Amino acid sequence: MDDSAKTTAEEAVQQAKVSVLFVCLGNICRSPSAEAVFRQLVEEGGLSDRVQIDSAGTGDWHVGAAPDERATAAAKSRGYELSALRARQVAQDDCMQHDYLIVMDGQNFDAVKELCPNANARRLLDFAPDQKVRDVPDPYYGGEDGFDEVLDLIVEATRGLLADVKGRLKVPAVELGG
Ligand code: 4NP
Repeated sequence: MDDSAKTTAEEAVQQAKVSVLFVCLGNICRSPSAEAVFRQLVEEGGLSDRVQIDSAGTGDWHVGAAPDERATAAAKSRGYELSALRARQVAQDDCMQHDYLIVMDGQNFDAVKELCPNANARRLLDFAPDQKVRDVPDPYYGGEDGFDEVLDLIVEATRGLLADVKGRLKVPAVELGG
């Protein structure tokens, strides 16, 4: 490869973008929380212009609604802002538009795979291999504690997800401090 071709290839790597869609059932508790936590992590890593982030629900009950008040309060107490987000339902267009469809539980996984058989659908907790659980529990019908537990899992797993995304973007670990 001559120097100009090498430069072009390097530029292409530097300009590559990754798109991540978080998916849960209602898009008012878990996936908007994951969206906000991951967005902050990506900002802290200086990758905001290279990582697109969104969330959606497999169900349509809450389309257009703001996140659940309990999720918003739990997130706010840790410095994450959910209030501007609005629920939407995952759609066929999402199958091609995102490099990662990150689901919260097995039920979401089955629904996403049915809609998008060829998509890169992964459970969020695949990126938290030390966790014994594989599903982020649905907090909707539970108590306030459930929302904190959900955030604990999301915070841990999104760190693993960011490492995976950096690998895909070919970001050298030294450039971003690990
Ligand atoms: P999410 O939680 O999937 O984390 O947004 C839920 C929100 C609403 C319902 C279920 C789960 N619901 O049955 O309305």
